[in-house]
Order: sequence, then structure tokens, then C-alpha cells
Amino acid sequence: MKIIEVEDYNALAKKASEMVIKRVSQSSSLTLGLATGSTPLGVYEHLREDFINNKTSYKSVKTFNLDEYVGLEKSNPNSYYYYMYKNLFDHIDIPSNQIHIPNGMAKDLEAECQRYEEQIDQVGGIDLQLLGIGVNGHIGFNEPGTSFDSITHVVKLAESTRIANSRFFHDLSEVPTHAITMGIASIMKSKEILLLAYGLKKAQILYDLMTKTIDERLPASILKRHPRVTIIADKKAMSII
Ligand code: GLP
Repeated sequence: MKIIEVEDYNALAKKASEMVIKRVSQSSSLTLGLATGSTPLGVYEHLREDFINNKTSYKSVKTFNLDEYVGLEKSNPNSYYYYMYKNLFDHIDIPSNQIHIPNGMAKDLEAECQRYEEQIDQVGGIDLQLLGIGVNGHIGFNEPGTSFDSITHVVKLAESTRIANSRFFHDLSEVPTHAITMGIASIMKSKEILLLAYGLKKAQILYDLMTKTIDERLPASILKRHPRVTIIADKKAMSII
């Protein structure tokens, strides 16, 4: 894993967006894997600005989001569908049929997971996957203990994840209990991975990631087996390494 340490969150967002823009500009058929949460917000802001200023086109880009809550309508501001349109898709020229987000309202969730995984395979896999990391080491919504062989599946969210994400909801009871997430094997199929972490609250998990062995109790540890992973972290997140 290659680590790029940057001064602060702004520098992280700038660096990550530059890497994304470079891939988008260089490829005639790029498939991007996208993440939600607070970490990529600045990256999406830079992509929006770049679209206005430099007209980088997304007409031939396909996207696959990592995860989605079960039971939230697309119009719910806490759904990842809503998040992605508000923060990125509404502002760039990507055709809507090239955007893929798991449908957490599907009647048959198992069938939805299978369909989603097949769609990723049909386009030849993800070229560049953006990842955040949970304070417990989760990637996507793959909580500690998830099999490294997992593909897209329904997960029961860890209480710590629900509490961490409750900051976006009115109260904890509104946070869904389940989500659909790409599995760990789905993520590992990506050709290149960019993991972003900032702030003191991610310092311990980054330290664990660097120092502990590969183990299903720390989902992100599998990334050490991937040939092309870059971590961009700010000074605070790197403070105990
Ligand atoms: C959330 C998301 C992940 C995200 C992580 C970190 O639960 N499902 O995709 O990477 O937790 O979130 P944040 O960036 O807000 O710290």
C-alpha cells in the first residue's frame, strides 16, 4: 500500500480529486467506484468545480456506489442515492443510465444484490474505487467479521456504525438497521483502490491497519493483498503511526 500524507482535509480532497480527474480525462470508458460518508464530500466538491472550470466530461464514465441503506426512499436526504445526486451527479454530465447505486427499496433484496454484482462484472469491473474507512475498520458496509470472500450482500449494521452515522439523522432510531453493500471480494476485484482518511477519529484505525495482520476482524486489512492501493491521509489521521 502506498501512503500519501497530506497537510489537512483540503489537501486530501484536492489530491484525491486530481487523481480521479486524471483517470477520467485519460480513459475513454472508465468505471468509477464511489463512496459516501463525510470523507469524499470535499472530493466531490472539487470534481464539481473542475467540471465548471475545465469541462472534464463524464459522458463515457460509469459509476458504481459501494452501498445503500435498506428501507430509505431515493428522495430521503439520508439515502446514499440522494447524497450522490446532490453532491455530484446533478452537477456533471454523466448519463443517468451509467450510474449504479444498490436499490435498498427492492422487494427482493437478495436478487438485487446478485443483479448489482453481475452489473459490475458485465462492465469488466471497477477501474478506480474510492473508499472511506469506518472507525471499526469497515469498508463499504462490510463490518468486522465479514468474509473476505463476500460479494454484494445485505448486512446488519454494527451498533457502532449506526451511532457514528446517526449524526446525519434526527435520532438513532431513524438510522436503518440494514444496508446493501458491495462485498469485500467485490471491492478487491477493482483494478485500483484509493482509500481516504482524515482527522483524529481515524488515527487509531489507520494505526491498526498498518500494524495488524490481515484478519476478517479488520475488514480493511485485506487491502494489503491488493497490488494497487493508495492511502491518502492527513496529518491528524497519521498522528500515531
Ligand atoms: C459509512 C459508509 C462507508 C464510509 C464510512 C466512513 O458508514 N458506509 O462507505 O466510508 O462509513 O464514513 P465517514 O467518511 O463519514 O467517516
